[in-house]
Amino acid sequence: MRILTGDTPTGKLHLGHYVGSLENRLNLQTDHECYYLLANKHAFTTNADNPQQIRQNTLDVALDWLSVGLDPDKCSMLIQSEVPAIDELTFYFAMLLPFNRVMKNPTLKSEIRMKNLGDTYPFGFPLYSVGQTADILAFRPDVVPVGKDQLPHLEMTREVARRFNQLYCGVAPETPDSEHLAAGGLFPVIDALLGRVERLVGTTGPGEDGELAKMSKSLKNHILLSDSPEAVQKAVMKMYTDPNRIRATDPGTVEGNPLWIFHETFNPDKAWVAEHEDLYRQGKVGDVDMKRKLVEVINDFLDPIRQRRLTFETRPDTVIDILKVGTAKANEVANATLDAAKRAMKQDYFSQ
Ligand code: TRP
Repeated sequence: MRILTGDTPTGKLHLGHYVGSLENRLNLQTDHECYYLLANKHAFTTNADNPQQIRQNTLDVALDWLSVGLDPDKCSMLIQSEVPAIDELTFYFAMLLPFNRVMKNPTLKSEIRMKNLGDTYPFGFPLYSVGQTADILAFRPDVVPVGKDQLPHLEMTREVARRFNQLYCGVAPETPDSEHLAAGGLFPVIDALLGRVERLVGTTGPGEDGELAKMSKSLKNHILLSDSPEAVQKAVMKMYTDPNRIRATDPGTVEGNPLWIFHETFNPDKAWVAEHEDLYRQGKVGDVDMKRKLVEVINDFLDPIRQRRLTFETRPDTVIDILKVGTAKANEVANATLDAAKRAMKQDYFSQ
């Protein structure tokens, strides 16, 4: 199978990114042809006035990838802006999606709300979602591992693939998604692969709506993959738990309690977790001890990541070389797709 996914470099990656998508990428790289894209152009949607920051964030995300164990011998890591075929495809794909359809994309709508973009966002903001369909289809992947918030973009990608195949490859409208390639379509109608944890909670409890907030840098409720042991300790010891539990002898609630969500997600000793959840319910173990244990668990999880980071951090040229090789490989695939797309659209004037 061929796999493509990516991250918009808006800052360093956190534990939510790990369980939401990085973990799948690690598993997939061993037996599949994987392309992992640094969507640096998408970072210009909200950060065009700060290109140095975008550059730094792009390299930081690459370093996070290498630190978690994405292996340049097993996958290609690429810089979006260095793959021009993606931009060319974006223009054609933008013709296949009604404007109002793009503006109804729920992820765009929620970003406009969450980032307070009002009606002053640039034209390129909704365009990025069309660009994402080209990021994906340039590689003609089978599977796209993403977090849940990306599903609307993947749905648009499926619509573009169907439409292109119908308009330019003679695929009949009633063709099932899984048969588009066999029916002569150029683009696969891709499948999403969601992470083990679709939405990891943050460390600070509910947001304004009363629901536990998702881990995110803008809410400052995150633990970074690059955090020091001390930073982890600080974040965990102040973690929001069961607000109704005053004393350690009060019965505690496990469900929806970040302390236990994190144990369930990161503690490899499932029996220990089940046993202590039970004791917590009965008021026989305290928050502080369970938090101390969680500090250990998260630091054990992050230690190998920290070790790998050290080896790359001191060799920035190596990181650039890895991206260069990955991007060259990506260009071969994306250029071949673009050629085939132009042929299908009868715009291959010079390739007789
Ligand atoms: N929009 C994704 C994010 O915000 C990043 C992204 C860009 C992406 N292009 C992609 C993800 C293609 C999957 C496939 O993180």
